[in-house]
Amino acid sequence: MNILQFLLLAQNLCVLVLADPPPDYYFPDDFIFGAATAAYQVEGAWNEDGKGESIWDRGTHEHPDWVADNSNGDIACDSYHKYKEDVQLLKDLGVDFYRFSISWSRVLPTGKIDQINQAGIDYYNNLIDELLANGIQPYATMYHWDLPQALQDEGGWPERKLADYFVDYARVLFENFGDRVKHWMTFNEIVQICEAGYSDGAFAPYVVNPGIGGYECTHTILLAHGRTYRMYETDFKAQQNGQIGIAIDTSWHEPNFPDRETDQQASEVDMEMNYGWFVNPIVNGNYPDVMIERVKTNSLAEGFSASRLPEFTPDEQEMLKGTFEFLGLNHYTSDKVYFAEEGAGDRPSHWADTGVVGYQDPSWSGSASYWLKVVPWGLRNLLVYIKNHYDNPPVLITENGFSDYGQWDDYDRANYFKDYLYEVLRAIHEEECNVIGYTAWSLIDNFEWMAGYTQKFGLHYVNFWDPERTRNKKLSSYVYNNIITTRHVDWDYYPDWPQPTESNV
Ligand code: NOJ
Repeated sequence: MNILQFLLLAQNLCVLVLADPPPDYYFPDDFIFGAATAAYQVEGAWNEDGKGESIWDRGTHEHPDWVADNSNGDIACDSYHKYKEDVQLLKDLGVDFYRFSISWSRVLPTGKIDQINQAGIDYYNNLIDELLANGIQPYATMYHWDLPQALQDEGGWPERKLADYFVDYARVLFENFGDRVKHWMTFNEIVQICEAGYSDGAFAPYVVNPGIGGYECTHTILLAHGRTYRMYETDFKAQQNGQIGIAIDTSWHEPNFPDRETDQQASEVDMEMNYGWFVNPIVNGNYPDVMIERVKTNSLAEGFSASRLPEFTPDEQEMLKGTFEFLGLNHYTSDKVYFAEEGAGDRPSHWADTGVVGYQDPSWSGSASYWLKVVPWGLRNLLVYIKNHYDNPPVLITENGFSDYGQWDDYDRANYFKDYLYEVLRAIHEEECNVIGYTAWSLIDNFEWMAGYTQKFGLHYVNFWDPERTRNKKLSSYVYNNIITTRHVDWDYYPDWPQPTESNV
């Protein structure tokens, strides 16, 4: 080693020794932890005990080849029969709550209240009771993508009458479960329901109507959400005293060059048009101004006589304003954005209306899902954005997680949880963001929509080859449990854990 190399090594060692370790922040005492699933992804029993057909049953049966491994949710994790095992896993995990979804067509096979399926009501009663008996709070999502097929046959979410049917369905849920369920999320990820379902045709019901279908669908859903909130407020709140929220997903859209003004504007427009689109009506009563302007300008230029974005009446705006007790946030990843010089996609389309393009930095590490890159700091930036734009509302992180191909020793998932949860701690302690809780997606490996069973998000392994659908703990379940029980991130904690036996793989 020459003198120069020696000096460099000494300098590096100094940096290592002198650099401050990250502060050891703790989660506040009232911060809650949970894990999530959704009915179609885990329940199975797709046609058992009177359940009606949903758009995902129809879609996967009609087009098996559209799903990566030609699979479907007919059996999935068989949670319809094995929910007690799921609750045991939740108990071992040490979570405060379980976020699950209710299958509309299991409760109302035709989607309407003319026919109530008692076996469906019984199933959710049993699940809720089992959770409560184990000290776990039920957090119920009313709609996680599985529309009763009978309502799709009437046109699906772009039809405004669907809002009426949803409010009727919600009333059945409050009447039957509201004595024990105190936290409700009306909808999960409106952008996926509407853009993927009714604009791009990427998800069931696979309708292709870009630039129109997604806006009409969203409009109905926002009205359904608002009216459900108001109905609960007048008819149930006094006796049941629960809270209503909604789970909205967004990536963080980082300006491509953070110091460049046009990239900052692109980030702002992208956030408004892909997050404010849903949140602004619920918080402030209407779509963001920039969205109203951009869609109108584009629509007129395309020859439409009016904007493709529907309008809320003044009464509807009043009705919608403030319809949440907490904002659910589903977040996984980030991108870098800038204005597209030559348009951001075919017209008409929501992407063209947004006018922004994004990419993911090749240096960010990946997962089994092409869209999911690991960008922990993006979550902190997003939480700060929400605080600044919406007056620091209570945010419940309703989903966050990592996909792989099904490893037992899922170090990448464990590290993802550590890194993202540490950014949540920073947002709370350094930025005073009002984050009230966190939900890991997912409790168990499950049916990942168009990716079938090729991408795994579970804290627990499910053996899909085994008719018993055996469940087993992965490394990440111990790491998440350690964070929950110690209430901070222990960077060195990797347990000696009982490796599952070969026969379960
Ligand atoms: C969001 C959805 O709510 C959930 O159903 C899905 O499995 C996860 N993201 C992972 O893609």
